[in-house]
Amino acid sequence: MKAEKTVAPSILSADFACLGRQVAELEDAGAEILHIDVMDGHFVPNISVGPLVVKALRRHSKMFFDVHLMIEQPECYVEDFVLAGADLITVHWESTKHIHRLVQQVVAAGCQVGVALNPGTPFEVLDCVARDLDMVLIMSVNPGFGGQAFIVDALAKIAQAARWRVEMGARYRVEVDGGINLDTAPLAAQAGADIVVAGAAVFGGAQPAEAWQLLQLAVDS
Ligand code: DX5
Ligand code: ZN
Repeated sequence: MKAEKTVAPSILSADFACLGRQVAELEDAGAEILHIDVMDGHFVPNISVGPLVVKALRRHSKMFFDVHLMIEQPECYVEDFVLAGADLITVHWESTKHIHRLVQQVVAAGCQVGVALNPGTPFEVLDCVARDLDMVLIMSVNPGFGGQAFIVDALAKIAQAARWRVEMGARYRVEVDGGINLDTAPLAAQAGADIVVAGAAVFGGAQPAEAWQLLQLAVDS
């Protein structure tokens, strides 16, 4: 992953009938991280994609696959997603009783690891695992659906994550997910986000690649 601030398109809002083409267009435009939302209808009310789709995209893309698991019993599926081609797997702190064990499981499977926090979960829960993480994902919507409004309180949590990284001597990147658009992307970047995820703002219009480029310009400036 590159060091600058990056916009990661989320395929949740893509046209799944031509997913490969849309992903290729974003890669050609310069996107380096692809955010893949996995939902099981239990941890969140929606159902999306599984390892089969990750594997299918892997054959056609060199992008960094940032797989966001919004599922119950994530420990049962880690290896499947690694085999399918995930570069980083983010698990929700709220989805397991054993976050430390789960983080170690992802690392042992040979994958980078992130932990996501719902809007109702304070940053402090990461105290004992933060130094082991490659990514901290701050949810700026309640997970489950694209196109929701950005929860402004997330900005303080993003800043806290960036501050704690220095204080704790951790190395994780700070990612924000949900409600990102041309107005909120610069706010999240200024607060300390390294990666901003955008679904509807990229795929909601007729020109996803151009929409991604505009968002990338907004976080660069
Ligand atoms: C929400 C997902 C997000 C979603 C963001 O639960 O984790 O990645 O795709 O969509 P937008 O950018 O439309 O809020
Ligand atoms: Zn996501």
